[in-house]
Order: sequence, then structure tokens, then C-alpha cells
Amino acid sequence: MNRIVILFSGNGTNLENIIQKLHQKELLVAAAITNNPTAKGIERAKKYGIPVEVIDHRKFESREAFDRALVESIQKYGPDLVVLAGFMRILTPIFTSKIQNAINIHPSLLPLFKGARAIERSFASDMKVAGVTVHWVSEELDGGQIIDQACFHKEDESLEEFEAKIHALEYELYPKVIKDIVRGRCPQRG
Ligand code: GRF
Repeated sequence: MNRIVILFSGNGTNLENIIQKLHQKELLVAAAITNNPTAKGIERAKKYGIPVEVIDHRKFESREAFDRALVESIQKYGPDLVVLAGFMRILTPIFTSKIQNAINIHPSLLPLFKGARAIERSFASDMKVAGVTVHWVSEELDGGQIIDQACFHKEDESLEEFEAKIHALEYELYPKVIKDIVRGRCPQRG
């Protein structure tokens, strides 16, 4: 079976959704790695017996030093694909030059609303549609080649309702794209 490594920083609901839908069915989640020692996702991954590694970015003197440790840790597991799921670190060329098969999910219709607070900005905008994007990871934050997107029409709704719709789309789209990539049905990074 193909192996993936998941990187996360916080709540880990996408991490748990991927584990529930794909682990030991379509692929093996070889490890989950976080930069945040108090991330809720740690317990979520452990519940399923997934090895969790914590690499606390605050213990490194530079982004590059952190990325070096991260790359080393990822490579130990020999993943076919690296999956970023709410991983809140800006990556340097140390990462992107060594790990070329990494994907990310972003809660907006890229190239709109790159970076932080994408959900709030998309909610507040004049756009009539909103959605989520899965893309290859590149040196540019949220700027790598787009693999797939899903969207919905905005309604008269609260931010909380809007956010729930965004997350529901993520839980549907991300496992589907991961499955397609590991089955070789998705174009590789161009
Ligand atoms: C998701 O909205 C994802 O798109 C973004 O960060 C959030 C992570 O949520 N990159 P969770 O940790 O998976 O619950």
C-alpha cells in the first residue's frame, strides 16, 4: 500500500477525516507530524494508532533549521505523498527542494484569499461563490499548481454556518484527491 505522511498544526479535523476514510483502506498513514506540542490533532491521530512526531519550531534558530529537521523526519517514513492539513508554517526551499510530492488544502478558491484568515476574507467579500482548493506545495505560499477545487453559492448565512460549509467541502474533497493521486489518476506536479 502507498504511504502518506500528514503534517498538521492545530485541531486536526482534516487529519482525522483522512485517517477515517483512507487509512488501511486506500493507503497507510505512516505518521503524523506537528510543529505544535499542544495541537489537538495529536490525540486524534493517536486514537487510530498513528505514530505522531512533534517538532517544535520554537526550538530552532531559523526556518531553515526547522525545515531541515522536518524533512529528515518525513524522509524516515518514505512516503509516496506528503499531505499538509492545517500546517501553519511557511516553508523554505530547504523543504520544497527535497519534498516535491506534497499537497495542501486551502479554504478559499485560489488564487483568491491566499494566506491567513482566508475563510473570514472570503465570507466578507463580494464574491457570490466560495470554496476550497487542493494544490501542490511550492515555494510560494498557497501558490502551487491547483489540483482540484469545490465550491458553493454563498447564502444569507452567519460566519459560523459559512465556515461549517467550507469544512464540509474540505472533508469531501481532500480524501478524494489523495485517493486519486495515490492511484495515479491525478496529473503529477508540473
Ligand atoms: C482547514 O480549514 C484548512 O483548509 C486550513 O487549515 C484548516 C485546518 O483545520 N489550511 P483542521 O486542523 O484540519 O481542523
